[in-house]
Amino acid sequence: MEYRNPFTPTFGIVPPHLAGRSELLSQFADAFDQGIGNPNLATILVGARGCGKTALLSCIAQEALQHGWIAVKVVAAEGMLADILERTLEASAEFLDPKPRKRLSGIEVAQFLGIEWTLEASEQENWRSRMNAVLDDLAERDLGLAILVDEVTASVEEMVKLAATYQLFIGEGRRVSLIMAGLPKHTMDLVDNESVSFLRRARQRFLGAVSDAEVARAFRASVEDAGKSIGEAALGKAVEAIGGYPYMMQLVGYCAWESSRDSSEISDEHVEQGIFQAASDFRVGVLDSTYRDMSDGDRAFAKAMIQVGRDCTLAKVAQAMGKRTNYASTYKARLLGRGMIAELPDGTFGFALPMLESYLAERFGL
Ligand SMILES: Nc1ncnc2c1ncn2[C@@H]1O[C@H](COP(=O)(O)OP(=O)(O)O)[C@@H](O)[C@H]1O
Ligand SMILES: [Mg+2]
Repeated sequence: MEYRNPFTPTFGIVPPHLAGRSELLSQFADAFDQGIGNPNLATILVGARGCGKTALLSCIAQEALQHGWIAVKVVAAEGMLADILERTLEASAEFLDPKPRKRLSGIEVAQFLGIEWTLEASEQENWRSRMNAVLDDLAERDLGLAILVDEVTASVEEMVKLAATYQLFIGEGRRVSLIMAGLPKHTMDLVDNESVSFLRRARQRFLGAVSDAEVARAFRASVEDAGKSIGEAALGKAVEAIGGYPYMMQLVGYCAWESSRDSSEISDEHVEQGIFQAASDFRVGVLDSTYRDMSDGDRAFAKAMIQVGRDCTLAKVAQAMGKRTNYASTYKARLLGRGMIAELPDGTFGFALPMLESYLAERFGL
Protein backbone atom coordinates (compact mmCIF):
# COMPACT_ATOMS: atom_id res chain seq x y z
CA MET A 1 0.00 0.00 0.00
CA GLU A 2 1.16 3.50 -0.83
CA TYR A 3 1.12 5.86 2.12
CA ARG A 4 1.19 9.61 1.80
CA ASN A 5 3.09 11.56 4.43
CA PRO A 6 0.48 13.85 6.08
CA PHE A 7 2.92 16.14 7.88
CA THR A 8 3.64 19.59 6.50
CA PRO A 9 7.00 20.96 7.65
CA THR A 10 6.68 24.01 5.41
CA PHE A 11 6.02 27.54 6.63
CA GLY A 12 2.60 28.87 5.80
CA ILE A 13 0.96 25.51 5.13
CA VAL A 14 -2.16 24.58 7.08
CA PRO A 15 -1.61 21.08 8.48
CA PRO A 16 -4.42 18.51 8.36
CA HIS A 17 -4.74 18.67 12.17
CA LEU A 18 -3.99 21.84 14.09
CA ALA A 19 -2.76 21.29 17.62
CA GLY A 20 -4.18 23.48 20.35
CA ARG A 21 -6.17 26.01 18.35
CA SER A 22 -9.74 24.80 18.59
CA GLU A 23 -10.69 27.04 21.52
CA LEU A 24 -9.34 30.11 19.75
CA LEU A 25 -11.03 29.17 16.49
CA SER A 26 -14.36 28.67 18.14
CA GLN A 27 -14.05 32.12 19.68
CA PHE A 28 -13.55 33.51 16.20
CA ALA A 29 -16.54 31.57 14.95
CA ASP A 30 -18.60 33.23 17.70
CA ALA A 31 -17.14 36.63 16.87
CA PHE A 32 -18.10 36.37 13.20
CA ASP A 33 -21.48 35.05 14.20
CA GLN A 34 -22.13 37.87 16.59
CA GLY A 35 -20.58 40.58 14.41
CA ILE A 36 -20.29 44.24 15.32
CA GLY A 37 -19.14 44.86 18.87
CA ASN A 38 -17.44 41.53 19.49
CA PRO A 39 -13.95 42.37 20.82
CA ASN A 40 -12.26 39.49 18.98
CA LEU A 41 -13.00 41.15 15.63
CA ALA A 42 -9.87 43.29 16.16
CA THR A 43 -7.14 40.87 17.17
CA ILE A 44 -3.37 40.67 17.00
CA LEU A 45 -1.85 37.19 17.02
CA VAL A 46 1.64 37.33 18.49
CA GLY A 47 4.26 34.60 18.43
CA ALA A 48 7.67 33.34 17.41
CA ARG A 49 8.49 32.05 13.97
CA GLY A 50 7.03 28.58 13.54
CA CYS A 51 4.33 28.82 16.19
CA GLY A 52 1.66 28.72 13.51
CA LYS A 53 0.51 32.30 12.96
CA THR A 54 0.12 32.08 9.19
CA ALA A 55 -1.70 28.76 9.36
CA LEU A 56 -4.01 30.12 12.05
CA LEU A 57 -4.81 33.20 9.95
CA SER A 58 -5.88 30.90 7.11
CA CYS A 59 -8.17 28.99 9.46
CA ILE A 60 -9.65 32.21 10.81
CA ALA A 61 -10.33 33.31 7.24
CA GLN A 62 -12.14 30.00 6.76
CA GLU A 63 -14.28 30.66 9.84
CA ALA A 64 -15.11 34.09 8.49
CA LEU A 65 -16.27 32.63 5.19
CA GLN A 66 -18.47 30.11 6.96
CA HIS A 67 -20.18 32.84 8.95
CA GLY A 68 -21.22 35.27 6.28
CA TRP A 69 -18.08 37.28 5.88
CA ILE A 70 -15.77 37.82 2.97
CA ALA A 71 -12.13 37.29 3.94
CA VAL A 72 -9.06 38.82 2.33
CA LYS A 73 -5.59 37.87 3.44
CA VAL A 74 -2.56 40.04 2.73
CA VAL A 75 1.00 40.46 3.95
CA ALA A 76 1.97 43.82 5.44
CA ALA A 77 3.97 45.60 2.72
CA GLU A 78 3.66 48.75 0.68
CA GLY A 79 0.92 48.12 -1.86
CA MET A 80 -1.20 46.23 0.65
CA LEU A 81 -4.05 48.74 0.53
CA ALA A 82 -4.42 48.30 -3.21
CA ASP A 83 -4.20 44.58 -2.68
CA ILE A 84 -6.98 44.62 -0.10
CA LEU A 85 -9.27 46.63 -2.36
CA GLU A 86 -8.63 44.40 -5.34
CA ARG A 87 -9.14 41.19 -3.43
CA THR A 88 -12.26 42.47 -1.76
CA LEU A 89 -13.68 43.24 -5.18
CA GLU A 90 -12.67 39.83 -6.44
CA ALA A 91 -14.18 38.06 -3.47
CA SER A 92 -17.38 40.06 -3.55
CA ALA A 93 -17.74 39.39 -7.28
CA GLU A 94 -17.93 35.69 -6.41
CA PHE A 95 -20.89 36.43 -4.20
CA LEU A 96 -22.77 38.38 -6.85
CA ASP A 97 -26.10 36.74 -7.41
CA PRO A 98 -27.11 36.09 -11.00
CA LYS A 99 -30.18 38.33 -10.78
CA PRO A 100 -29.75 41.95 -11.85
CA ARG A 101 -29.02 44.01 -8.79
CA LYS A 102 -29.66 47.55 -7.78
CA ARG A 103 -26.38 49.14 -6.89
CA LEU A 104 -23.31 47.57 -8.43
CA SER A 105 -23.58 45.35 -11.46
CA GLY A 106 -21.35 42.44 -12.29
CA ILE A 107 -20.04 44.37 -15.23
CA GLU A 108 -19.05 47.27 -13.05
CA VAL A 109 -17.27 44.93 -10.71
CA ALA A 110 -15.50 43.32 -13.63
CA GLN A 111 -14.39 46.76 -14.71
CA PHE A 112 -13.06 47.42 -11.27
CA LEU A 113 -11.14 44.20 -11.44
CA GLY A 114 -9.36 45.16 -14.63
CA ILE A 115 -7.88 48.24 -13.05
CA GLU A 116 -4.38 48.23 -11.63
CA TRP A 117 -4.56 50.16 -8.41
CA THR A 118 -1.45 51.98 -7.40
CA LEU A 119 -2.02 54.30 -4.51
CA GLU A 120 -0.01 57.37 -3.68
CA ALA A 121 -0.12 58.78 -0.16
CA SER A 122 -2.55 61.45 -1.30
CA GLU A 123 -4.92 58.77 -2.53
CA GLN A 124 -5.62 57.38 0.88
CA GLU A 125 -8.93 59.21 1.08
CA ASN A 126 -9.65 57.83 -2.30
CA TRP A 127 -8.91 54.32 -1.08
CA ARG A 128 -11.22 54.83 1.81
CA SER A 129 -14.08 55.97 -0.37
CA ARG A 130 -13.58 53.09 -2.74
CA MET A 131 -13.59 50.72 0.19
CA ASN A 132 -16.70 52.41 1.51
CA ALA A 133 -18.44 51.77 -1.79
CA VAL A 134 -17.55 48.09 -1.68
CA LEU A 135 -18.49 47.85 1.98
CA ASP A 136 -21.88 49.41 1.28
CA ASP A 137 -22.37 46.85 -1.41
CA LEU A 138 -21.38 43.99 0.90
CA ALA A 139 -23.60 45.31 3.68
CA GLU A 140 -26.53 45.28 1.31
CA ARG A 141 -25.96 41.58 0.84
CA ASP A 142 -25.42 41.08 4.57
CA LEU A 143 -21.75 40.29 4.18
CA GLY A 144 -19.00 41.46 6.51
CA LEU A 145 -15.39 41.95 5.50
CA ALA A 146 -12.56 40.30 7.43
CA ILE A 147 -9.14 41.73 6.62
CA LEU A 148 -6.32 39.42 7.70
CA VAL A 149 -2.82 40.85 7.70
CA ASP A 150 0.20 38.60 8.14
CA GLU A 151 3.69 39.67 9.20
CA VAL A 152 2.61 43.04 10.50
CA THR A 153 5.21 45.70 11.14
CA ALA A 154 4.90 49.35 12.00
CA SER A 155 7.64 50.17 9.51
CA VAL A 156 5.17 49.73 6.65
CA GLU A 157 3.38 53.02 6.31
CA GLU A 158 0.31 51.48 4.70
CA MET A 159 -0.06 49.19 7.71
CA VAL A 160 -0.42 52.21 9.94
CA LYS A 161 -2.85 53.77 7.45
CA LEU A 162 -4.90 50.62 7.34
CA ALA A 163 -5.18 50.52 11.11
CA ALA A 164 -6.17 54.18 11.20
CA THR A 165 -8.80 53.70 8.50
CA TYR A 166 -10.10 50.59 10.22
CA GLN A 167 -10.88 52.74 13.21
CA LEU A 168 -12.95 55.01 10.96
CA PHE A 169 -14.83 52.01 9.50
CA ILE A 170 -15.66 50.89 13.02
CA GLY A 171 -16.76 54.39 13.95
CA GLU A 172 -19.19 54.26 11.03
CA GLY A 173 -20.64 51.00 12.30
CA ARG A 174 -19.36 48.91 9.41
CA ARG A 175 -19.07 45.16 9.68
CA VAL A 176 -15.30 44.95 9.30
CA SER A 177 -12.82 42.80 11.16
CA LEU A 178 -9.06 43.26 11.32
CA ILE A 179 -7.01 40.23 12.32
CA MET A 180 -3.26 40.73 12.35
CA ALA A 181 -0.33 38.42 13.05
CA GLY A 182 3.34 39.07 13.66
CA LEU A 183 6.47 38.54 15.70
CA PRO A 184 6.42 39.99 19.22
CA LYS A 185 8.81 42.81 18.40
CA HIS A 186 6.87 43.95 15.35
CA THR A 187 3.48 43.77 17.00
CA MET A 188 4.80 45.67 20.03
CA ASP A 189 6.13 48.44 17.78
CA LEU A 190 2.83 48.62 15.96
CA VAL A 191 0.78 48.82 19.13
CA ASP A 192 3.14 51.51 20.44
CA ASN A 193 2.74 53.60 17.31
CA GLU A 194 1.13 56.89 18.29
CA SER A 195 -1.02 57.29 15.20
CA VAL A 196 -2.83 54.00 15.79
CA SER A 197 -3.17 54.13 19.54
CA PHE A 198 -6.59 52.52 19.29
CA LEU A 199 -4.78 49.28 18.43
CA ARG A 200 -3.88 49.08 22.09
CA ARG A 201 -7.47 48.06 22.60
CA ALA A 202 -7.20 45.24 20.04
CA ARG A 203 -7.09 41.79 21.58
CA GLN A 204 -3.55 40.47 21.72
CA ARG A 205 -3.27 36.71 21.64
CA PHE A 206 0.07 35.16 22.47
CA LEU A 207 0.59 31.87 20.75
CA GLY A 208 2.82 30.09 23.23
CA ALA A 209 3.65 26.42 23.51
CA VAL A 210 0.81 24.02 22.74
CA SER A 211 0.10 21.49 25.51
CA ASP A 212 1.57 18.01 25.18
CA ALA A 213 -1.91 16.50 25.27
CA GLU A 214 -2.97 18.62 22.29
CA VAL A 215 0.19 17.78 20.37
CA ALA A 216 -0.38 14.08 21.05
CA ARG A 217 -3.97 14.28 19.85
CA ALA A 218 -3.12 16.11 16.63
CA PHE A 219 -0.09 13.90 15.97
CA ARG A 220 -2.07 10.70 16.38
CA ALA A 221 -4.95 12.01 14.29
CA SER A 222 -2.56 12.99 11.48
CA VAL A 223 -0.99 9.53 11.49
CA GLU A 224 -4.24 7.60 11.68
CA ASP A 225 -6.07 9.64 9.06
CA ALA A 226 -3.26 8.87 6.67
CA GLY A 227 -3.64 5.14 7.30
CA LYS A 228 -0.89 4.26 9.77
CA SER A 229 -0.84 3.63 13.50
CA ILE A 230 1.45 4.65 16.34
CA GLY A 231 1.81 3.15 19.84
CA GLU A 232 1.67 5.10 23.10
CA ALA A 233 5.38 4.87 23.84
CA ALA A 234 6.40 6.03 20.37
CA LEU A 235 3.90 8.86 20.52
CA GLY A 236 5.17 9.92 23.94
CA LYS A 237 8.71 10.14 22.63
CA ALA A 238 7.64 12.28 19.70
CA VAL A 239 5.60 14.59 21.91
CA GLU A 240 8.50 15.11 24.26
CA ALA A 241 10.83 16.09 21.43
CA ILE A 242 8.24 18.44 19.94
CA GLY A 243 8.08 20.53 23.11
CA GLY A 244 4.76 22.13 22.18
CA TYR A 245 6.20 23.88 19.15
CA PRO A 246 4.01 23.49 16.04
CA TYR A 247 6.76 23.59 13.43
CA MET A 248 8.63 20.88 15.34
CA MET A 249 5.51 18.73 15.35
CA GLN A 250 5.50 18.79 11.57
CA LEU A 251 9.24 18.14 11.33
CA VAL A 252 9.27 15.23 13.77
CA GLY A 253 6.11 13.79 12.26
CA TYR A 254 7.39 14.10 8.74
CA CYS A 255 10.74 12.50 9.51
CA ALA A 256 9.27 9.69 11.63
CA TRP A 257 6.82 8.93 8.85
CA GLU A 258 9.63 8.80 6.29
CA SER A 259 11.62 6.46 8.54
CA SER A 260 8.68 4.10 8.76
CA ARG A 261 8.59 3.76 4.95
CA ASP A 262 5.97 1.21 3.93
CA SER A 263 5.43 -0.23 7.37
CA SER A 264 1.89 0.34 8.60
CA GLU A 265 3.02 1.30 12.09
CA ILE A 266 5.31 4.07 13.27
CA SER A 267 7.45 2.33 15.88
CA ASP A 268 9.61 3.68 18.71
CA GLU A 269 12.59 3.25 16.50
CA HIS A 270 11.06 5.18 13.63
CA VAL A 271 10.29 8.01 16.00
CA GLU A 272 13.83 8.01 17.33
CA GLN A 273 15.23 8.20 13.83
CA GLY A 274 12.68 10.88 13.01
CA ILE A 275 13.66 13.00 16.00
CA PHE A 276 17.30 12.73 15.05
CA GLN A 277 16.63 13.86 11.51
CA ALA A 278 14.22 16.57 12.62
CA ALA A 279 16.76 17.94 15.06
CA SER A 280 19.32 18.31 12.33
CA ASP A 281 16.82 19.95 9.98
CA PHE A 282 15.76 22.28 12.77
CA ARG A 283 19.36 23.20 13.43
CA VAL A 284 19.98 24.15 9.84
CA GLY A 285 16.56 25.67 9.18
CA VAL A 286 16.02 27.63 12.37
CA LEU A 287 18.70 27.55 15.05
CA ASP A 288 21.75 28.43 12.94
CA SER A 289 20.05 31.52 11.55
CA THR A 290 18.71 32.46 14.99
CA TYR A 291 22.24 32.31 16.33
CA ARG A 292 23.66 34.32 13.44
CA ASP A 293 21.13 37.08 14.11
CA MET A 294 22.16 37.47 17.76
CA SER A 295 24.37 40.39 18.78
CA ASP A 296 27.20 39.95 21.29
CA GLY A 297 24.94 41.38 23.99
CA ASP A 298 22.13 38.95 23.07
CA ARG A 299 24.57 36.07 23.33
CA ALA A 300 25.93 37.23 26.68
CA PHE A 301 22.38 37.43 27.99
CA ALA A 302 21.48 33.96 26.69
CA LYS A 303 24.66 32.51 28.13
CA ALA A 304 23.86 33.98 31.54
CA MET A 305 20.36 32.50 31.30
CA ILE A 306 21.82 29.04 30.77
CA GLN A 307 24.12 29.56 33.76
CA VAL A 308 21.21 30.63 35.94
CA GLY A 309 19.23 27.57 34.87
CA ARG A 310 15.54 27.27 35.75
CA ASP A 311 13.33 30.18 36.81
CA CYS A 312 15.43 32.98 35.33
CA THR A 313 14.69 36.42 36.69
CA LEU A 314 16.15 39.66 35.41
CA ALA A 315 18.08 40.19 38.65
CA LYS A 316 19.66 36.72 38.53
CA VAL A 317 20.59 36.98 34.85
CA ALA A 318 22.04 40.47 35.29
CA GLN A 319 24.12 39.19 38.17
CA ALA A 320 25.42 36.28 36.12
CA MET A 321 26.33 38.76 33.37
CA GLY A 322 28.08 41.00 35.88
CA LYS A 323 25.90 43.92 34.71
CA ARG A 324 23.17 46.13 36.10
CA THR A 325 19.56 45.05 35.62
CA ASN A 326 18.99 48.08 33.42
CA TYR A 327 21.61 46.91 30.98
CA ALA A 328 20.33 43.34 31.04
CA SER A 329 16.74 44.45 30.49
CA THR A 330 17.62 45.78 27.02
CA TYR A 331 18.68 42.32 25.95
CA LYS A 332 15.78 40.65 27.62
CA ALA A 333 13.45 42.87 25.59
CA ARG A 334 15.36 42.06 22.38
CA LEU A 335 15.11 38.31 22.90
CA LEU A 336 11.46 38.51 23.94
CA GLY A 337 10.79 40.58 20.84
CA ARG A 338 12.11 37.87 18.60
CA GLY A 339 10.23 35.14 20.39
CA MET A 340 13.44 33.42 21.50
CA ILE A 341 12.49 33.65 25.15
CA ALA A 342 9.08 33.84 26.76
CA GLU A 343 7.97 35.24 30.07
CA LEU A 344 5.58 33.65 32.53
CA PRO A 345 3.03 35.67 34.50
CA ASP A 346 5.24 35.45 37.59
CA GLY A 347 8.02 37.33 35.78
CA THR A 348 10.38 34.38 35.30
CA PHE A 349 11.40 33.57 31.76
CA GLY A 350 12.97 30.80 29.71
CA PHE A 351 13.87 29.77 26.18
CA ALA A 352 10.89 29.55 23.87
CA LEU A 353 12.20 27.49 20.97
CA PRO A 354 12.77 23.75 21.33
CA MET A 355 16.43 22.73 21.53
CA LEU A 356 17.54 26.35 21.63
CA GLU A 357 19.04 26.03 25.08
CA SER A 358 21.10 22.93 24.35
CA TYR A 359 22.12 24.35 20.98
CA LEU A 360 23.36 27.58 22.55
CA ALA A 361 25.08 25.74 25.40
CA GLU A 362 27.04 23.82 22.81
CA ARG A 363 27.87 26.99 20.89
CA PHE A 364 29.04 28.72 24.06
CA GLY A 365 31.12 25.71 25.07
CA LEU A 366 29.13 25.30 28.30
N1 LIG B 1 -1.54 24.46 15.39
C1 LIG B 1 -0.65 23.76 14.69
N2 LIG B 1 -0.41 22.46 14.96
C2 LIG B 1 0.50 21.77 14.27
N3 LIG B 1 1.23 22.26 13.28
C3 LIG B 1 1.05 23.56 12.95
C4 LIG B 1 0.10 24.37 13.64
N4 LIG B 1 0.14 25.61 13.10
C5 LIG B 1 1.07 25.58 12.14
N5 LIG B 1 1.63 24.35 12.03
C6 LIG B 1 2.75 23.97 11.16
O1 LIG B 1 3.89 24.63 11.71
C7 LIG B 1 4.69 25.23 10.72
C8 LIG B 1 4.77 26.74 10.90
O2 LIG B 1 3.49 27.31 10.69
P1 LIG B 1 3.32 28.82 10.21
O3 LIG B 1 1.88 29.12 10.26
O4 LIG B 1 4.06 29.04 8.94
O5 LIG B 1 4.09 29.58 11.42
P2 LIG B 1 4.44 31.13 11.57
O6 LIG B 1 3.62 31.88 10.56
O7 LIG B 1 4.09 31.44 12.98
O8 LIG B 1 5.92 31.23 11.33
C9 LIG B 1 4.09 24.78 9.40
O9 LIG B 1 4.80 23.65 9.01
C10 LIG B 1 2.64 24.45 9.74
O10 LIG B 1 2.15 23.43 8.89
MG1 LIG C 1 4.14 33.13 9.04
